[in-house]
Amino acid sequence: MVGPKRHFLPLILISLAAFIFYSFHHSSLPSSILESNPTSTFPNPIRTQSSPNFTFVIKVLAFNRLAALSRCLRSLAAAHYLADRVHLHLHIDHFAPDNASHVDPKLREAHQILEFVDGFDWKFGEKVVHYRTGNVGLQAQWLEAWWPSSDHEFAFVVEDDLEVSPLYYEFVKALIMNFYYNASNYSPSIFGVSLQRARFVPGKHGNKLQLDDQTRLFLYQLVGTWGQILFPKPWKEFRLWYDENKAKGNKPFLEGMVTTGWYKKMGERIWTPWFIKFIQSRGYFNIYTNLLHERALSVSHRDAGVNYGKTAGPDSKLLEEKSLDFNLLEVQPLRSLRWYDFCFREVHPGKVATNLEELGSLLHSLQKQDSVFLVNLFGVSDAISRNLLCHFERLDIRNYILMGPPSDSLFDLARRGHPVINVDKFISSVGLSKFTSQGLSFETIKGILAKTYAIKKCIENRYNTWVMDGSMLLTSDLFLSESEDSNGDFFVANNLELFYAKSSSSSQKIWVDGFVSKVVAMAESLAGKDSATHGSLSFVYVVIKLLEQNGARIRRVDENSFATKIGSGSETSLRDKKLVYWSSEMELNSIQKWLDEFNLWSIDSDLSCTAVVCHKS
Ligand SMILES: *[C@@H]1O[C@H](CO)[C@@H](O)[C@H](O)[C@H]1NC(C)=O
Ligand SMILES: *[C@@H]1O[C@H](CO)[C@@H](O)[C@H](O)[C@H]1NC(C)=O
Ligand SMILES: *[C@@H]1O[C@H](CO)[C@@H](O)[C@H](O)[C@H]1NC(C)=O
Repeated sequence: MVGPKRHFLPLILISLAAFIFYSFHHSSLPSSILESNPTSTFPNPIRTQSSPNFTFVIKVLAFNRLAALSRCLRSLAAAHYLADRVHLHLHIDHFAPDNASHVDPKLREAHQILEFVDGFDWKFGEKVVHYRTGNVGLQAQWLEAWWPSSDHEFAFVVEDDLEVSPLYYEFVKALIMNFYYNASNYSPSIFGVSLQRARFVPGKHGNKLQLDDQTRLFLYQLVGTWGQILFPKPWKEFRLWYDENKAKGNKPFLEGMVTTGWYKKMGERIWTPWFIKFIQSRGYFNIYTNLLHERALSVSHRDAGVNYGKTAGPDSKLLEEKSLDFNLLEVQPLRSLRWYDFCFREVHPGKVATNLEELGSLLHSLQKQDSVFLVNLFGVSDAISRNLLCHFERLDIRNYILMGPPSDSLFDLARRGHPVINVDKFISSVGLSKFTSQGLSFETIKGILAKTYAIKKCIENRYNTWVMDGSMLLTSDLFLSESEDSNGDFFVANNLELFYAKSSSSSQKIWVDGFVSKVVAMAESLAGKDSATHGSLSFVYVVIKLLEQNGARIRRVDENSFATKIGSGSETSLRDKKLVYWSSEMELNSIQKWLDEFNLWSIDSDLSCTAVVCHKS
């Protein structure tokens, strides 16, 4: 695959090749992963067939390297296909226009390639040759290689300088059966399987790519271009997404990613920045192997051509049958696999707590910090919650739990790796579904009770707890440490639904079952009154009143000292403010306008963060 002007790619890829694979021992998190209701988190749109008949199509992308192509096809033909029908589609790019004196050798080269593929015997299925009339380059070669003809067709995209292991197909088939056709291991987040050895972390300042020796399979957001199996639904989605963004003149910029730099230099000659941006916006993942000893099921010979100025040689060792020292076809269940983002930071998708016990194990799976944020998303739009999460990422706030009534968007946040509490189920699990109140006050009460129970669990688990609303945005984390250092077990602002409970022996003595019952009783009685008093039906109001009765040490702070209310006409410089908030009645458009003005609107039209921000973990 050689295009006309591809001077930058070789340097970049050669420097990638310099990445060393570290395989350290990795401390493991408690395995109490919450699988409370996986079906509500991971709806399963794929019809499970007892013996699915999927179609497997190999898409070879070739150009002018006959020797490489011949090695590639020989390795594909030497693989074990288990009597399955497997099709071979060859996409041969045309040479770029040149001055007439140079055309003849290029024509000869092209004819040799065509003659070779015509004569190549493929006995496993149909062989189709697609010879271009003009040079389209790598991006179009990849993107146009495939439009899935059904949800049961899988494509394996192979650039011509790859060589595959004879074992690759059996392995891929085992993965397809396990992760696509077995409902208990299915996740709509998985877009494919990469057979190359993972070595590259695209997020700037990301973690080193390290896995323990026990890990055979893991999930990672990055697409691999050296042997990538694509699943039909996500690929079709990507093609449509690309179409729309390309047509509207959008660019696949994603701050904080090395690949965005590639795009800025090479533009439309490469395709991965588009796919990476799409993956970021959907929160999808790729399956990778960790076969140890630098082994992989596909290796790139990195021959001189489009990607390399001169031949760089294989980056990994091909897995050979005779050196197989483990059972390649033994596939672990999905819930035992680890998931990593573009920073190679572990994420925990699908965590939905529906009762106190699950909240307990969710807390155990959080990173080791001493504070947790409970964020109330009731009545908060998707855009606002997604923007808030981008700021958490920027500020490296990882201990948060989102609370909201069950909804598609709440479960989607969980699918993307944000822990959530399904407030309705949570409330029923503690026996509080008996309320007869209706409408808004009922939702408010549920929120109050869920927070009260959740704080109790947090205090017991030695977590200091922040309770905040989705209609607030932290702009700095300084404010947190200041407050945590102060005296007082509880912290409250005068007119904000912001609350802090320190985990101390004195707070643990106050926040007991009896206290929780009092909160329930008070919320119930306030809700029973006429709507005029519903203004006082807030978590902070109820809890502070009862804490005062218990003689708790409460620190009160004037919110104007650290927070700015937007849309109030009194916005000043944000420089010394640590939080912005707004009225829950404010329209999304106005909120966005204000936040934009303060440079705090950090999502794009797909509601995904405009930047990836890595912090070492
Ligand atoms: C699979 O395909 C074969 C051949 O087309 C057909 O005979 C068989 O019924 C199919 N099985 C299923 C489960 O669809
Ligand atoms: C055609 O190719 C030759 C050989 O590389 C080169 O010297 C010449 O400048 C080229 N002519 C044009 C018009 O590009
Ligand atoms: C589906 O996956 C589950 C969990 O890994 C496993 O126990 C079960 O045997 C699998 N079913 C089939 C038909 O392979």
